[in-house]
Amino acid sequence: MIGFSVRWAVPFIYLVVATSAAQMLFPGPFPMWLLRNRKYIGLCFAVAMAWQGLFIFMMSNFFREYYYQDIYLLRDELEGSVGYIFLAAMVVTSFQFGRKYLTQKQWKLLHKSGLYFLWAYPFSVYWWNLSYYENPQAIDYVFYWSGFLAFALRIAAWGKRRLQVARRNEPQGSTPLAFRVLGGAVIAFGLFAAATGLHWQEPVTAFLTAPKWSADLVLWLPFWPFEPYLSLFIIGLGAALVTGKVSTKGRELAKEGEQT
Ligand code: HEM
Repeated sequence: MIGFSVRWAVPFIYLVVATSAAQMLFPGPFPMWLLRNRKYIGLCFAVAMAWQGLFIFMMSNFFREYYYQDIYLLRDELEGSVGYIFLAAMVVTSFQFGRKYLTQKQWKLLHKSGLYFLWAYPFSVYWWNLSYYENPQAIDYVFYWSGFLAFALRIAAWGKRRLQVARRNEPQGSTPLAFRVLGGAVIAFGLFAAATGLHWQEPVTAFLTAPKWSADLVLWLPFWPFEPYLSLFIIGLGAALVTGKVSTKGRELAKEGEQT
């Protein structure tokens, strides 16, 4: 019941993560509708998560021995509890009676960090299902790739915004070809890494947790050492290259042409 209830919740959090990016990349009435109703989509997620919360409560109270022997793991407990704390705080501050206690800046910080955390949790669950266990189900693929797409859209929207700002400052400028080619290659590598976790997870985890301090962090720090997110980090780097450092060479050449 815990697993099944979460499956009803996850699509809603992915949708909220993708909404602002969708409007930036494909402006139109439907993305705008999603954006306007983001709060209610988030609340749908919260309702489905409340069911999971109820089933977790039942398990940990009525099947105490089973819970502590077979399920309980400090780090999972910390990850899950942080998730529920964010969720409760986000729900309360979605309405005027809770919102009034926060400044605009605090509200934004809470909702943005909570959104990332609540996306990161299921995304990592399904990444591990595909990249560690060798018998994933079809639903693991669906939820992994849709979580990936939701975040990748945010990266694309971020890149588009960077380009727009750069173009506004340097209307004739463009990103140097070398940056675009290198960035494209880095993005392709990130996509490759996203699809092949099963083949690199073990050595990469071993490498990242080789120092004792890092191995100790695994015991309590949520998601450490962040293997599920490496591919998106690489894609983000690639996007920064593709959209970065606008060169004015074109404009200078054009100017020279006008003078001669
Ligand atoms: C203290 C809090 C939490 C506890 C004790 C907990 C416990 C569990 C348990 C026992 C399962 C079933 C595992 C299995 O079927 O093998 C599960 C599944 C799952 N939980 Fe939680 N959880 C917590 C919080 C969260 C939060 C905040 C999220 C964020 C969305 C989340 C997302 C998931 C997902 C995605 C699954 C897999 C569902 C599937 O089978 O497809 N959990 N959780």
